[in-house]
Amino acid sequence: MSPDAARRRRCAVVGLGARAQLFTEALAGPYAGRIDLAAFCDANAHRMAVHNTWLAPARPSREPVPAYAPDDFDEMLRRERIDLVVVCTVDHLHDHYIVRALEAGCDVVTEKPMTTTAERARRILEAERRTGHEVRVAFNYRYNPVHSAVRELLAGGEIGEVGSVHFEWLLDLRHGADYFRRWHRDKTNSGGLLVHKATHHFDLVNWWLGARPETVYAQGGLFFYGDEAGNRRGLARDYARAHGSPAAEGDPFAIRLADSSVLSALYLDAEAEDGYHRDQNVFGPGVSIEDDMAVLVRYSSGATLTYHLTAYAPWEGYRIAFNGSEGRVELLVEESTWTRPDVRSDGASAVMHGAAVGGEAGRTQLLLRRFWEEPREIKVPTGEGGHGGGDVRMLADLFGERPPDASDPLGRAANADDGALSLATGLAANHSLATGFPVDARSLMER
Ligand SMILES: NC(=O)c1ccc[n+]([C@@H]2O[C@H](COP(=O)([O-])OP(=O)(O)OC[C@H]3O[C@@H](n4cnc5c(N)ncnc54)[C@H](O)[C@@H]3O)[C@@H](O)[C@H]2O)c1
Repeated sequence: MSPDAARRRRCAVVGLGARAQLFTEALAGPYAGRIDLAAFCDANAHRMAVHNTWLAPARPSREPVPAYAPDDFDEMLRRERIDLVVVCTVDHLHDHYIVRALEAGCDVVTEKPMTTTAERARRILEAERRTGHEVRVAFNYRYNPVHSAVRELLAGGEIGEVGSVHFEWLLDLRHGADYFRRWHRDKTNSGGLLVHKATHHFDLVNWWLGARPETVYAQGGLFFYGDEAGNRRGLARDYARAHGSPAAEGDPFAIRLADSSVLSALYLDAEAEDGYHRDQNVFGPGVSIEDDMAVLVRYSSGATLTYHLTAYAPWEGYRIAFNGSEGRVELLVEESTWTRPDVRSDGASAVMHGAAVGGEAGRTQLLLRRFWEEPREIKVPTGEGGHGGGDVRMLADLFGERPPDASDPLGRAANADDGALSLATGLAANHSLATGFPVDARSLMER
């Protein structure tokens, strides 16, 4: 082994679906000199083979990354001498792999949400403390330059003390619908969108305010998707999954896996192994998550948040306003201005995410409105790549060379406590939805 190879950390990726590609390509590409992509683990061998095919051009002289089944995870960590595990499985399995990896002496990078229940979050926090190894949560939105600019404005005292936040997030008919086509539609898999999706948003608010959620109240439900609403409005068609179903022809809510070589390879061609149908009818039975949610939060700083998440909007993006004792900050991000009914594009993201589809792209506007002054637009260069440039910056922070002073002035690196804190809002909101009462978010993570 060369001295270089001896210094490199050895990394395993568990869960080789669509999201894993961000990590596998980074590890086989720009970070290959620092970290060895040493193993894959997934319940579906076909998907692991697809990732190996995609990586082959970047690793011309290397063997395929060794692929392991879930039961062989511990053996994989030992045999491949793994010291870093990237967890990209379905959400409700994250804790299982995080805890096993920590106990085997590895550090962990986990996709969001860190997990799906308070009990699982406590297990992770306990394992991290016990083992002394590190969990990083991949909150890529913190690294979006416009979000960092908001943090700088607030931390720099531009609007004084923050009294309240008003935050609306819209998922368009393509991206929003995607959560109702696959495993996310079952709350036991994803925790619902207040956990799966809003974990990003609640984390941003915690980070922007430097505060913790205390009291949470929520209302909401399944308004648009699902069989009852679909039948009532005449939107439902008679099919279980789109592929091979004549009834799905021309349905703007159907995803056509066969039109995308990426989706075909990852899902359609992999179905025989596990029966995972990624193109279910959004108006079919079995949806147990909400698509329209209103949440009211009080923070440790005294600030309040009014938050709304809608998963059936005509455009994709978000508006946020911070009301301060010396002014107001307003952010508008239009990721798409409308939703085309007929997207045909050969990539996973373009098929489901408005931001990736040219021609529909919108704008970003960050305004500082200090008392007694004209509004000032803060120009922030938007980044290349996914999530407003957040993905590439996060990868550099996770896998790149740490600067000599290792400083993180904006505090963007998110740990397990941050993961748990963002979950505290979403889980408390879920509890409030179920009971109709406000919930003390502080007590959720206590043992
Ligand atoms: N940060 C972001 O912006 C972002 C974006 C997309 C997805 N994600 C997260 O990434 C994760 C994966 O999402 P995805 O869209 O790639 O989903 P996916 O369905 O494409 O992939 C999930 C993978 O988990 C595998 N899996 C199932 N059971 C398993 C088991 N017992 N052991 C090991 N693997 C198993 C599946 O076979 C599949 O390959 C999720 O947690 C999601 O929240 C984050």
